[in-house]
Amino acid sequence: MTVSGHWGSSTSFDERHPSLGLFITFEGIDGSGKSTLAGSVFRKLAERLGTDRMVMTHEPGGWDGGEVLRETLIGGDLKSVLTETLLFLADRAEHVERVIRPGLGAGKVILCERYSDSTLAYQVFGKSFPRGVVEEISAGGRFPRPDLTFWLDVPVRVALGRIVARKGKPDRFEKDGPLLERIRLGYGTLCHEEPERVKRMDGTNDPGDLADTMVSSIMALLMKKGGWR
Ligand code: TMP
Repeated sequence: MTVSGHWGSSTSFDERHPSLGLFITFEGIDGSGKSTLAGSVFRKLAERLGTDRMVMTHEPGGWDGGEVLRETLIGGDLKSVLTETLLFLADRAEHVERVIRPGLGAGKVILCERYSDSTLAYQVFGKSFPRGVVEEISAGGRFPRPDLTFWLDVPVRVALGRIVARKGKPDRFEKDGPLLERIRLGYGTLCHEEPERVKRMDGTNDPGDLADTMVSSIMALLMKKGGWR
């Protein structure tokens, strides 16, 4: 599943972080089940590593004070994709400086729901915002690159069915089926570009099995990095 065209095909634009910590992100279209899975991966990992060693966070709004930006981005009615993209990146800049970078520096295992791949999938692939602008700003913020990204892939039809079952109605990002299709294809492209980092998980599989597979991959990476202590 690959999208080619004017978005370019460079690999990740952000930095590899040198710390012993581990930076894991969860990605996917709305209704892919990533929040539920991130929660169960957190609980399973915490049994092995202890909660002190772990940080569970999310974007947008995963920092003290970030709720205002989250509300503007999700509940608001922004007309410009430029405003939207810049606010997601601004939110990320605060999140990186306040939560992610300090956490990695302290050797923590960070589980983060949504990160840079969301901006590429939603704003760049979904809404045709220029990729180069996102990459330049991300480089300017020295956003650390995730060690591992789980892309929960589900068909749009399945995702929309789950959203309606959960909330009764989809929100402004979620109600646009063709947009979600472009976003899903965008994730496919990111996975194709960086197969070592972005792991596609079939989000229609049993959630317990998916969580076990994710925990095994994270533990393997932690051992490889020498961060198992
Ligand atoms: P969620 O926290 O429930 O996943 O909702 C976040 C929404 O924001 C979701 O529709 C995806 C969207 N989003 C973007 O469009 N770009 C981004 O960079 C991020 C982090 C999220």
